[in-house]
Amino acid sequence: MTTLTADTLASRLSEPRLLRHQSYINGAWVEGPRSLVINNPATGEDIAHLADVGAEGARSAVEAAQTAFERWKKVSPYERGKILMRWHDLILAHADDLATILTAEMGKTYREARGEIVYGAAFIEWSAEEAKRIHGETLTPPFPGSRGWTTRAPIGVVACITPWNFPNAMITRKCAPALAAGCTMVIKPAPETPLSALALAELAEEAGVPKGVFNIVCGDAQEIGPVLTGAPEVRMIGFTGSTPVGKLLMRQAADGVKRVALELGGNAPFIIMDDADVDTAAAGIVASKFRVSGQTCVSANRIIAQPGIYDDLLAALKTKVDALKVGDGFAGDTDLGPLIHTQAVERVDGLVRRAVDGGARIVSGGHSLVDELGGAFYAPTLIEGGTPEMDLACFEIFGPVASVYKMDSEAEILRFANDTPYGLAAYLYTRDIGRVHRMTEGLDYGMIGVNAPMVGSAATPFGGVKESGIGREGGKWGVEEFTELKYVLLGGVDT
Ligand code: SIN
Repeated sequence: MTTLTADTLASRLSEPRLLRHQSYINGAWVEGPRSLVINNPATGEDIAHLADVGAEGARSAVEAAQTAFERWKKVSPYERGKILMRWHDLILAHADDLATILTAEMGKTYREARGEIVYGAAFIEWSAEEAKRIHGETLTPPFPGSRGWTTRAPIGVVACITPWNFPNAMITRKCAPALAAGCTMVIKPAPETPLSALALAELAEEAGVPKGVFNIVCGDAQEIGPVLTGAPEVRMIGFTGSTPVGKLLMRQAADGVKRVALELGGNAPFIIMDDADVDTAAAGIVASKFRVSGQTCVSANRIIAQPGIYDDLLAALKTKVDALKVGDGFAGDTDLGPLIHTQAVERVDGLVRRAVDGGARIVSGGHSLVDELGGAFYAPTLIEGGTPEMDLACFEIFGPVASVYKMDSEAEILRFANDTPYGLAAYLYTRDIGRVHRMTEGLDYGMIGVNAPMVGSAATPFGGVKESGIGREGGKWGVEEFTELKYVLLGGVDT
């Protein structure tokens, strides 16, 4: 395992200035009273000590964002688009450094981290282009002698709380459309992965994002969260993370009747009908399930196969899962990095142990690799024979565990697939067009990948139904979230 300390991380970067250890508030790098320790989950080593700016820092970031909003909303959309495009270009120019920081603090493989930087930058490019297309409509005159029209005004200061599993892209997916629309931002990154957020701020400044428009506050969520949800200046709360935290934020935001955009947990069914191509389906499952070691909210959680394909699929999956290489994300041949911390390993292992106690059978893996590899590693795991009542089927696994269920009729599959409070992503593998229509119409999910294991892109709407969230990120829908529809009626026109 590589030794990665604060010094060696800095020495790996072609531009060490990207490794920031303060919060970024009102265009300045701000120290805080306490310290936040950042760990490399592949080794457990400390890689950074950061200033925790607490409630006071959050308060000053909100004030700065409010002051900046009055100016930023008046900057021409063409100019906002140009600044965003410069930010995009700088991010791509520094993709290697950004990916290095990301792998160091989060653990995903360097290949995945680099992919995330490109994915994250695409949201900025898309929003930069869209900035000049955020406009209203002329309405059919509602009364004699009148005219009516709508405009799309920026909602104001937006506070976003972002997750550790995509420390770069979940920020850009929120900030880029918000900034394009004329909003200003206060971002509270996950305590595990603030370095990627701060590196983004460094490049935003270089791109010409004015002071106060983009603020990053690092510190304790218990202190910072209530300031953000309680501040009257904050008009919208954006969050990606767990459903319980999303509900808490929604309750806190209710007092100020703030808009919320919540991208929460999932329990994705990955359905393989018996007419599907076995190898394509198995490759799709591995891509969905083991991406970021299973730590994505759209990861396949319940793999449901019809009897006609079940045995072949399980055999193909076993071959692929056994071939996956686990290790430090910086090693060139690693397929799966560590989980975010050892508590996550224990939680995943608990789900597996309870499933086995309930009668499920481990086909591959099924154990922690913490002792063997010295970091928060879990073996890529394949399980069969679980039941719909098991925790493994009811909760988001958020780890590299593929659990396969055998079910026959479309009705039975749909019942199981929809029998969850979640409704983020679902997947369907079939070559029968009739099945595509029947099943996609029957699945209660915000996004459905048909013969496609990945659904997110800069141009498409990302989000869920039921307890998986509210609102959409990406595409024109993602931009609209950050605007208020304003209606103007002009009377007395024809007199
Ligand atoms: C997430 O897991 O929150 C995002 C995954 C994606 O954008 O594909």
